[in-house]
Amino acid sequence: MQDAQRILELRRLLNEHSHRYYTLDAPIISDAEYDRLFRELLELESRHPDLVTEDSPSRRIGGVPSDSFTQVRHRIPMLSLENAFTAADILAFEERLLRFLNLSEAPAYVIEPKLDGLAVELVYQDGLLTRGSTRGDGQTGEDITDQIRTVKSIPLRLHRPINGMLEVRGEVYMENDGLAQLNEQQLQAGRPPFANPRNAAAGSLRQLDPAITARRPLKFFTYGVATPQNTGCSGQYDLLDYLADLGLPVNRLTRRCPTIAEVIAGFAEFAALRHSLPYEIDGMVIKVDSFQLQERLGSKVRAPRWAIACKFAPKQETTRLVDVEFQVGRTGAITPVAILEPVNVGGVTVSRATLHNQDELTRKDLRIGDTVLIQRAGDVIPEIVMAITEQRDGSEAPVVMPTLCPACGQPLTRPAGEAVTRCQNLHCTAQRLQALIHFASKAGLDIEGLGKKNVEQLLDRGLINDIPDIYTLDQGSLENLDGWGARSAENLIAAIRAKTRPPLGRFLAALGIRYIGEISAAVLEAHFPSLARLREASREQLLEIEGIGEQAAASIIDFFDSRRGRELLQRLEAIGVEPVPAVVDTSSQPLAGHVILFTGSLQSMSRDEAKKLVKEHGGQIATAVTQKTTHIVAGDKPGSKIKKAEELGKQILSEQQFLSLIGSR
Ligand code: IVH
Repeated sequence: MQDAQRILELRRLLNEHSHRYYTLDAPIISDAEYDRLFRELLELESRHPDLVTEDSPSRRIGGVPSDSFTQVRHRIPMLSLENAFTAADILAFEERLLRFLNLSEAPAYVIEPKLDGLAVELVYQDGLLTRGSTRGDGQTGEDITDQIRTVKSIPLRLHRPINGMLEVRGEVYMENDGLAQLNEQQLQAGRPPFANPRNAAAGSLRQLDPAITARRPLKFFTYGVATPQNTGCSGQYDLLDYLADLGLPVNRLTRRCPTIAEVIAGFAEFAALRHSLPYEIDGMVIKVDSFQLQERLGSKVRAPRWAIACKFAPKQETTRLVDVEFQVGRTGAITPVAILEPVNVGGVTVSRATLHNQDELTRKDLRIGDTVLIQRAGDVIPEIVMAITEQRDGSEAPVVMPTLCPACGQPLTRPAGEAVTRCQNLHCTAQRLQALIHFASKAGLDIEGLGKKNVEQLLDRGLINDIPDIYTLDQGSLENLDGWGARSAENLIAAIRAKTRPPLGRFLAALGIRYIGEISAAVLEAHFPSLARLREASREQLLEIEGIGEQAAASIIDFFDSRRGRELLQRLEAIGVEPVPAVVDTSSQPLAGHVILFTGSLQSMSRDEAKKLVKEHGGQIATAVTQKTTHIVAGDKPGSKIKKAEELGKQILSEQQFLSLIGSR
């Protein structure tokens, strides 16, 4: 059939031309010619709907709008990066690497520009694009497959067939010209302009109607895959070459640097180049090139040890300090917040800046009415650098820390040795409000329909006073509130009911325990089979967990010991709220049931790397020889622990025996 053949031919032509245009920047036909071919394809496909395929360029104009985004769990979490700002930070990064690997010879690196956009994952199944998702919190993002299909530089099918799954990661961004044009359209339509390319990219991808996304000038570049080891490439530079070969756009500024000196020189070059590029970059990413070393280095809780983001110097502006407000947080902490005359700093309007605590206020000697220097580094919250004292005219007024809680009027306290002033009143309404807002927010249980405004209203009307009250809300009382109806009341009750058995990690994050945010809550979830077991954990046990530091451990213990913590959990339990633990099965791993202690210095790795290997293979680390310890790994010049181990009849392994136990090297 001729049409079928022509359809195939048109697809091939359109794919080739759009790759040339969008990815290689080297078109060989005019836009009008391209449009003509595209219309011909649309026409033929509308005559033969059965011939429309997933990878047809016609799919790029956007499918059917949906009501909401579905959540997608990333098979391998999408990590973020730690920051560096100076050459000294870059050198310290290399020092850390060498120490961890117990190496004296420095590795080679790859440097890439850090584009300011939105991180996404693209899943290719046997070469066909089957799913696109946002990074989200790193574990779970949103399904934006239809929106991703409209981004012209993303191939719908890879240029070479790849068996199985390839999870490509990269950044969707907008060039400066595209952003300027889009903002003009926004203004003409009476909508607010986007403050920066990142917001524009995010706002365009998170459109329920993909046809809107299709009209936005989005671009993409790839910087990695979820499991590089499976690609057969030896390192990052190789991998980017391979991905470019598959038709994926790779940024041309990417470079391999055999030494850290070249990395530092590269950072200066990127900074100089920054303003002549057609897109915004907010820094440079340094990656250890070799995948073998990357794997040995592994990751900390949020970020890999093998990469770092070097951010450019922060953007600064001056403005006036109009006032200082004192906010009461959910743990009672009083935070001074600067109210500023609104000013644009690097594309974002800043009108407030946190002043952290009283010490910071004293140190900076800020006065109301001062002209102040403020800065924003990347996505960091704006901060006041200093007051410009030369500009004072004597009318400035000092900032006075309140002695009474601005919300409940009870006296504030500042425990000795702590920087934070607190309201200790457990019934303080401001604390309750913040705790409730946090519990229902995205960082907590994410109860749909229970945002800040609604929480304020329900608290105000006395319908809720504390977290457990959320679960006893009834439809009747909601329906009668201002702005509510049967439908919205019913929806909220259903949304709350859906959170009666929340995942343990989310539940912990929602409780608002000091120092326990989403990440540390997820770490706790991975280590404890139930809430009850976490409750029994000692400070020492908590400290053994990577990602849980002194402050977090102390805070968890305090929470479970406190009257408020106990009462809160008791009430929730009585109502039937029951967190569901994550199931972690380590039983099939080679070190399952092993509790290993290291003593003496190791040859082929550092102590930290050894501990990482134990955990990765399902074992536990001991810090002292006890009954529970099952093995001792003795390095060079082992300490007295070895004697104790011998006395207790524990098994003693050499470094080599340990490595063969886990089948490594
Ligand atoms: S690598 C584990 N490379 O920066 C590696 N990230 O804070 C993680 N980004 O969420 C990312 N350009 O959105 C990497 N060349 C680049 C990047 C890049 C921009 C973003 C990305 C990520 C964030 C890391």
